[in-house]
Formats: sequence, structure tokens, C-alpha cells
Amino acid sequence: MNDIMKGRLMIPGVYTRSTMGPRMEPYPILDLRTVVSPYAPQRGCSFFDRIGGCDEHLYWETSRGCVFRCAYCAYTHRRPVFRTVPIERLQSEVEYFNRRDIKSIFVTDPVLGGPKSNTRRVLGLISQIESKPRVSVLLRPEYLDQEMVILLQRANVGWLDLGLQTTNPQLQYVHRKNDIPFLLSSCDLLRDAGMGFNLDLIIGFPGDNKESMLESIRFVIEEAKPNTIKIFPLRVYPGTPIHDMFLSRGSSWLSFDNHTRLVKSTATCCQEEMDEFTKFCNTVVTFYRFLSEESWLHKEQEFRRLPFFVRVFEKVSALEYSDADIWHIMNCPQNAYDRDKTQGVWTRMFDELEITN
Ligand SMILES: C[S@@+](CC[C@H](N)C(=O)[O-])C[C@H]1O[C@@H](n2cnc3c(N)ncnc32)[C@H](O)[C@@H]1O
Ligand code: SF4
Repeated sequence: MNDIMKGRLMIPGVYTRSTMGPRMEPYPILDLRTVVSPYAPQRGCSFFDRIGGCDEHLYWETSRGCVFRCAYCAYTHRRPVFRTVPIERLQSEVEYFNRRDIKSIFVTDPVLGGPKSNTRRVLGLISQIESKPRVSVLLRPEYLDQEMVILLQRANVGWLDLGLQTTNPQLQYVHRKNDIPFLLSSCDLLRDAGMGFNLDLIIGFPGDNKESMLESIRFVIEEAKPNTIKIFPLRVYPGTPIHDMFLSRGSSWLSFDNHTRLVKSTATCCQEEMDEFTKFCNTVVTFYRFLSEESWLHKEQEFRRLPFFVRVFEKVSALEYSDADIWHIMNCPQNAYDRDKTQGVWTRMFDELEITN
């Protein structure tokens, strides 16, 4: 293990902190039959049993790669082959789940099942799990018609992560053309079905400016009304169309940090604006979650408005940035959200700042 961690022993497709970056090559495992199933028994015992895995919460993979081609996404362009786990293996994994009392499952596919026809098939398999675990999935909002929402309900899906990315119609090169009326009706269907959902946005696309990014955020807060929001600054990965565009257009079009790959500035948003806007977005994300989990403090109509969030950010910005709590809510890494800490900070801030509409 030490040799792997230090990069002295390389296993194709496995990267550690020391081997990420220059030595990293895409290494798609094309035939998923060659990947050992953690759950399907081999010689009477599954890998999961051998390592003494906990039954309560499982991660499950039914496909790899993606059938879409979003211009920023490393998932699809670095490994441009979509492939599914063979159905017989998924079936035997479901049989394994049925011998356990599984409480929850997170399906790791970037779009559950890949193409819509396969999403339906995978949901059918999930419905066969007898312990009726609570299931979380990632899905394209375009898939969410009435029939799909019924299948999700039957499969006991309780949480969906949905990518919206932007509402800016000018950003055609991103390949995320969103059908806004359809999205709004899908959000209604999910709410009616009692399913929680998160909407993702990306900030810092070249062509986006402060006004258009604010409009995407306004739309999510005021119209789509998800349970939570995530707002990611663009990361520029080699092999993606956005990176190719950067190579031909240069750093006046897009500049980014070579180590973190995070956008620094674009032709339409300077670095200072980008830094400030990122802090604003982090504040919105954590504050929105605080309000959502506190039932909007029974003032949803008053609080669910972009200008309210802008005013809260102004108040927070006037405080000492070096204060650990202020730093936390403006920089909280969205994938490592610490619920107790962030809720605690906002509870205190809410009172101290005398936040009212
Ligand atoms: C693993 S992706 C899957 C989402 C889902 N496939 C979709 O697009 O609707 C989760 C989220 O990561 C974010 N993301 C993906 N690539 C990104 C990039 N290059 N820079 C910033 N955020 C990114 C997007 O907001 C995306 O919705
Ligand atoms: S962002 Fe999502 S839908 Fe788009 S290519 Fe990546 S994984 Fe697929």
C-alpha cells in the first residue's frame, strides 16, 4: 500500500495524491466484467463480506462514463466510452442486497444508468431490493417526466442530484441547453412525490458575467426551489473541449490555476470579480441550506429572494474575514459540507446580524 501511495507501484487506473497530475493518463477499463464486483459472491463470499463492510449504507455502480458531452466534463472526455455493468451481475448484486438489511444506497453513476432506457431498467432492478433502502442518484433533469418520477418513487429514490449548470442561453458551446419550463414542471413533480433534490450550478464559464451568473442563481432560488444548491467554480480539465478552446484562444479568454484547475478569470469576468463572486456563492450555498433545513424559519416568502441573499452577503462581508466562522461560510468546500458546524455558524450569525428581510 505504501508503494502505491508513494507512486513506486502504479496500478493502471489507480491514482494517489503523488501520482495525480503529470503522470496521470486516462485508463478506461472498457469491459466492466473484468472489474471484481464488491457484492457478487466469488467462491461463496463477496469482497464486501471479506472486508467486513457495513450493511447500513452501500455505494453501487451500474455504469461508467457518460452518454452526454458537456464541454467542461472530465468524466466524458477523458474516458469517452460509456459502458454498463452486465445485467446478470447487477441481478446477482441485487440478490446479495436481498440477503442483507440494507438501509441506504448511493448509486455512483454520473447519470443513473446512462441512457434513459437503461435508467428505467436500473430503477426496475432497484425496486426489487426487498429492504426498500433509501436511494440517492445523480440524474439529468431532462429525464424527469411523469413516468420517470413514478419509477423513481417505486424504487424508493429519496434524493436526486441534478445538474442545471447555467440558465445563460448564450453559452451554447457548453452543451447544456436547458428546457426551463420542462425543468420547472419536473421540480414540481419531485416535490409532489416527496423527493428531495439538489441543483448544481457552475460559475466562471467564459461568456458568463456577474449579471448572468446572478440570474442563474436567482432562477434556482426563486423558481426551481430545490432543497439544496451547489455552486461550483469551473475547473478546466485537459482533454475537454473547454480546455481545447483555451489552448486556441489563450489566457485572455480563460485563465486557471494549473494545480487546482480552478478558473481564475475569463474574458467576461476579471479575477477580482471571480474571487468575490465565489465567496458570494459559498455564502449562498450554506445559507440556503441552513434556511431549507430550518423550514425557512417560517418566512419562506420573504426569504426566498435573491436580493435577500445579496444583502446577507453584504452584511457578512462587512465582518472580519479573518474570523474563522466567516472564513468557513465563505470558503466551505461544497463536497465536504460539515452540517453541524455550518448550521451552528449560521444560527449564531442570524441572531448577531439581526437578519431580517
Ligand atoms: C459528477 S457531475 C454529475 C452531474 C450530472 N451528470 C449532470 O450533469 O446533470 C456533478 C456536478 O459536478 C459539477 N462539475 C462537473 N464538471 C465540472 C467542472 N469541470 N467544473 C466545475 N464543476 C463541474 C457539475 O455541476 C455537475 O453537475
Ligand atoms: S456533466 Fe454530467 S451529463 Fe454532462 S457529461 Fe458530465 S457526467 Fe455527463
